[in-house]
Amino acid sequence: MKTGRNEPCWCGSGRKYKQCHAAFDEKLEKYALAGIPVPERSWIKTSAQIEKIRESCKINIEILDYVENHIREGISTGEIDRWVSRISEKYGAVPAPLNFQGYPRSVCTSINEVVCHGIPDDSVILQSGDIVNVDVSTILNGYFSDSSRMFCIGEVSPEKKRLVEVTRECVKLGVEQVRPWEPIGNMGSAVHEHAKANGFSVVEEIGGHGVGLEFHEDPWVSYVSERGKGVLMVPGMMFTIEPMINMGTSDVYVDEEDGWTVRTADGLSSAQWEVTVLVTQDGCEVTTW
Ligand code: MF3
Ligand code: CO
Repeated sequence: MKTGRNEPCWCGSGRKYKQCHAAFDEKLEKYALAGIPVPERSWIKTSAQIEKIRESCKINIEILDYVENHIREGISTGEIDRWVSRISEKYGAVPAPLNFQGYPRSVCTSINEVVCHGIPDDSVILQSGDIVNVDVSTILNGYFSDSSRMFCIGEVSPEKKRLVEVTRECVKLGVEQVRPWEPIGNMGSAVHEHAKANGFSVVEEIGGHGVGLEFHEDPWVSYVSERGKGVLMVPGMMFTIEPMINMGTSDVYVDEEDGWTVRTADGLSSAQWEVTVLVTQDGCEVTTW
């Protein structure tokens, strides 16, 4: 594992280790010795990988922009699935959800009390008053990107609108906590605090994830974590910030019939926005929004 100081760096930059990641590794080791959980090397993306992942993110955003420009009352979620499939293909990309652990469609569409993993269908028609999350995950040249947005259909109640807005603010506040050499719990607790302050709850058992070389990588990311706790965020890490915020109880269950659809236990609405972030030398870059 130890790289010689004059050997090429493990990150593939072509530079000598001592001029590249040597100081980084020393710093990481100091934190580890102090008992602070540190990321594994495999979680740290090289600049070549980051370039590729950014390209995937660009297409991911294009697809969501298309959805944003066309989604409206009266269309079916099956139609959204066909858009995602078609636009992905147009850019030479592949929808990551399709056939992922047997998932049957190219996108997740989660309406009202559906927390996540709603399966698009031609029989599900968007109605005025619905809030819907469209979650797009994209593979381009083998690199993964993942983001989702909420859409308000027609006339939405003020309370549901507020849920959608507060959830967006939660993500923004979480992003502001992404700084190198700080614990990831700072991000999750910022999300949690803002949700609670607005009278909402945060889903605990479903979280975010590292992303880029695979669909779901380590670390698993919680949005009910504590400030000062959790793994250290370091430059080159990429993960999603995708909290699910509920109007009522944080309890959820999986639909037994389809094995995918996650719903709130009390039937009240849930909202989610998802972005991917890259931890940089001095803060973070949001690579999908
Ligand atoms: N995009 C979702 C996530 O970030 C994953 C959906 S997996 C699927 O976790 F198979 F349900 F699409
Ligand atoms: Co995700």
